[in-house]
Amino acid sequence: MCGITAYLGENAERELIAGLKHLEYRGYDSAGIAILKDKINITKTAGKITELEKIVKFDLGSNCGIAHTRWATHGAPIDENAHPHLSNNGQWAVVHNGIIENYEILKQGLKKEGLIFKSQTDTEVICNLLQFNNCKDPVETLIKTVKKLKGSYALACLNKDCKDTIFLAKNKSPLFIAKTGFQTFVASDIICFLGKAEEYYSLEDYEFCKVDKKSLIFYDKNGKKIDKKPQKLKNFEISNSKGKYKHFMLKEIMEIPNVLKKIVKEYKKNNFFGIYNKSFISKFNKIVLIGCGTAFHACKMGEMYLTEFARINASAYVASEYRYSHPLIDQKTLCILVSQSGETADTLAVCEMAKDCGATTVALTNVPYSTLATKTTYVLPVCAGTEIAVASTKAYSAQISILYMFAKHLQNELLNQNNDYLADIQSLSKDISAPTKEDFSTIINELINNNTPNKKDIQNVKHVFFIGRNLDYITALEASLKLKEITYIFSVEHPAGELKHGFLALIDNFSILFAIATNKNLLDKTLNGAYEAQSRGAKVIFLTQFELPEDTKTKFFKYIKLKPHKEELMPILSITFFQKLTYFTSVCKGLNPDQPRNLAKSVTVE
Ligand code: G6P
Repeated sequence: MCGITAYLGENAERELIAGLKHLEYRGYDSAGIAILKDKINITKTAGKITELEKIVKFDLGSNCGIAHTRWATHGAPIDENAHPHLSNNGQWAVVHNGIIENYEILKQGLKKEGLIFKSQTDTEVICNLLQFNNCKDPVETLIKTVKKLKGSYALACLNKDCKDTIFLAKNKSPLFIAKTGFQTFVASDIICFLGKAEEYYSLEDYEFCKVDKKSLIFYDKNGKKIDKKPQKLKNFEISNSKGKYKHFMLKEIMEIPNVLKKIVKEYKKNNFFGIYNKSFISKFNKIVLIGCGTAFHACKMGEMYLTEFARINASAYVASEYRYSHPLIDQKTLCILVSQSGETADTLAVCEMAKDCGATTVALTNVPYSTLATKTTYVLPVCAGTEIAVASTKAYSAQISILYMFAKHLQNELLNQNNDYLADIQSLSKDISAPTKEDFSTIINELINNNTPNKKDIQNVKHVFFIGRNLDYITALEASLKLKEITYIFSVEHPAGELKHGFLALIDNFSILFAIATNKNLLDKTLNGAYEAQSRGAKVIFLTQFELPEDTKTKFFKYIKLKPHKEELMPILSITFFQKLTYFTSVCKGLNPDQPRNLAKSVTVE
């Protein structure tokens, strides 16, 4: 997590703050900048970038600096732990994205040498190690220093004696550089180059760069100069505006119908499934789907689709578990790595592991220039457009749509079927746009304003439960995650059939239970579960695509009927309902749904 940026040009403070604002989705615990003039001047504070903006002195005529927005790993989110960090002698300032795993040992060693530490961060070790290593050439010092580091890092450093110069290093965490005219921009995400540059360089692991007024000089791990070719920025559609919406999250939910249309257009035009023909897919005896958070829920959906439609042995796993589980994986495994950002550390680690075991890797990612996209053999683009709100919405809907199409495509190939899966998604995009914002708001307002025995609003209700079966259970997982993430309401999710195996003991008069039932065959089963919870005091909100008898409907606290559609695609309609519900609940609680506490969009550390 964390975002770093650096700049060489004019009005450094303004450019750095502008860069940080683009990176705030990566963490917002503290922020800081270091400016190099005659000496290194650091301004930093706990809190969001707006807090930093209040104390930064602008227009001091500075040309060169580095900046950081933090998601705390080592040490509380307080001023002292904010980046940039400065070496004891004031020679080096460093901003860092990543985790230095051996920092304690290094710190002890440096302490013995008389160096003093002011923060609890792993990063402070780097600047003091730079001071300690002090070679004649600062690039040499940097290379010598990072050789001692274990873990992940994207580093931007200033050296007091090197005016108008920035030193960069990278391993695992992303780092990009764009040079245009007299300006050079460096950032964790190329979103910062939007409108500023037309091409950029991507620093690879163990590469280094020295940025000065004249040039960008790249080095390999041995300090040998290397040539690098820039990539075109205009190939990527990047957007970072909220448009007419108050929050990115609402904007991103409202974009879902267009995202689905775009998927259909792009997959038709580019035939992205072209290589996955019968002979290709027959090389594999299983498919594993790997992801974290919401992307893991998309994997679970993919597992069900692939198993049911293509009759393939498919299983979904959480990346952080899978990587340490000695899985059975070999050259007969097709490993699909699902990640909106393409930067999630655990997902990247599984990618490396799968490759080492001989598996074929496919990235299903929303960021075409991400690390994951460059590491896998094949890429399936998510086509959702930039997603900025921390809680994933449109990317999830896009991921499950593509996994649905992929499974149907394999069904066509392997079982000689003729599914028009593009038409399925196209028709879904129409249905999803059918209800107006007002239709949704009415339901949501009714929900959140309902009286419960002690509390007035749903956001104050202590016990919230989600149940469903099969695909609806996965929707329950994702809906419950959304509720936790952006409203801080504790909720529990369970397969509906498991109610009686313990979960029912939690139900009382203070419970709200969401039952999701969009599959005809399983409707009665889920209804039973809902009744059981209701008889024990729960207020049941029953979400379905079926018209229920009047006396059944009125039994429930709320009956919500979604527009009917193919059962296998109902998860996209149901989750949109929950995305909106949780969004409005968060807003009603006075929270910022785009930046929930303690979380960040890109989880680039383990
Ligand atoms: C974080 C985000 C989630 C996201 C997860 C996986 O937890 O807040 O929204 O689902 O990371 O991220 P990825 O980029 O790999 O999909």
